[in-house]
Amino acid sequence: MSYFASAQHEKERLLYFVSPEGRDDLYQYNQKERRTVLEVLDDFPSVQMPFEWLVQLVPPLKTRAFSISSSNSVHPNQVHLTVSVVSWTTPFKRKRTGLCSAWLAGIDPQKDIGVNIPAWFNKGSLPPPPPSLPLILIGPGTGCAPFRGFIEERALQSKSGSTAPILFFFGCRNEKNDFLYKDFWLSQSQNSGLLSEERGGGFYVAFSRDQPAKVYVQHKMREHSKTVWSLLSEGAAIYVAGSSTKMPADVMSAFEEIISEEIEVPKESAVRWLRALEKAGKYHVEAWS
Ligand SMILES: Cc1cc2nc3c(=O)[nH]c(=O)nc-3n(C[C@H](O)[C@H](O)[C@H](O)COP(=O)(O)OP(=O)(O)OC[C@H]3O[C@@H](n4cnc5c(N)ncnc54)[C@H](O)[C@@H]3O)c2cc1C
Ligand SMILES: NC(=O)c1ccc[n+]([C@@H]2O[C@H](COP(=O)([O-])OP(=O)(O)OC[C@H]3O[C@@H](n4cnc5c(N)ncnc54)[C@H](OP(=O)(O)O)[C@@H]3O)[C@@H](O)[C@H]2O)c1
Repeated sequence: MSYFASAQHEKERLLYFVSPEGRDDLYQYNQKERRTVLEVLDDFPSVQMPFEWLVQLVPPLKTRAFSISSSNSVHPNQVHLTVSVVSWTTPFKRKRTGLCSAWLAGIDPQKDIGVNIPAWFNKGSLPPPPPSLPLILIGPGTGCAPFRGFIEERALQSKSGSTAPILFFFGCRNEKNDFLYKDFWLSQSQNSGLLSEERGGGFYVAFSRDQPAKVYVQHKMREHSKTVWSLLSEGAAIYVAGSSTKMPADVMSAFEEIISEEIEVPKESAVRWLRALEKAGKYHVEAWS
């Protein structure tokens, strides 16, 4: 850009950014503020870069992954996604929204007929569980997406045969604002539904911002440690999904504590127990940030 800048102060600023002294400022300007290519070009209007240069320099849009949140048997020929609109404020107090999630949210199904949403299918890292496998699912926020599909599928299977129980730990910010699929989980946890205690299952929800102290899924797991251990000792598989990068490690620590306390063994033995579960292909994590 400095090569194409015709204004001296812009050229100097750009050269400063690529110098060793300007490295931290460049990081603040660029990465921290997550400036787009268009915003950078706007900030340096004297840069008249030939179009061919621009298209070679600008990286192509990267694809975004979304978990499929519906069962193919329950909704044939449909794919449901559960997408949270990403938004945050930068250190310079600029409001930012996620490119793909905000674009998807802005599409109006009534008006924007014919909009093309390019999509591909990739094999995910959470294998579909067989109906006979007991499950402990941990999915705060949009992490519930794959589990809605699992639970829909198993609820259907349970109408024609026997199925193993499911414990589902869900978490969100507030009961009022982002209790995703509330009616579905509650209907499955009542009247002998798949997540009901009569069927050996359970649905437990942590609202993190409805009280002064944070309550997370791992707190709910600890509250129900006996039920968790009981299902684990019956051979349950664990599935963890969600957007917080710290959550999977915190959930793993909660399992370590639960196992160690319930069977009265040292923490190291609980860690080994969980490693063996992982090795056996029964501890799955899909996390993104
Ligand atoms: C396997 C997998 C499954 C996924 N499943 C789902 C799903 O089911 N539902 C779902 O909603 N998403 C899911 N995601 C995440 C999804 O792919 C996108 O990353 C997400 O929707 C954001 O994309 P975007 O284009 O809206 O945001 P982008 O424009 O890509 O912006 C996101 C980026 O902004 C930055 N950012 C975001 N928040 C902040 C903050 N508070 N402070 C500073 N920087 C920040 C981060 O660098 C972040 O990577 C999944 C990801 C993976 C890898
Ligand atoms: N969910 C919303 O209402 C909402 C609204 C606007 C934008 N968004 C955007 O969408 C993105 C993804 O949203 P999301 O709904 O999937 O997730 P999320 O709302 O960021 O998180 C889901 C739940 O997990 C909790 N959590 C945070 N750290 C945790 C940890 N270490 N262990 C266990 N639980 C933890 C969160 O609590 P705390 O956040 O209270 O700590 C929240 O209750 C967010 O990053 C945000 O940018 C979400």
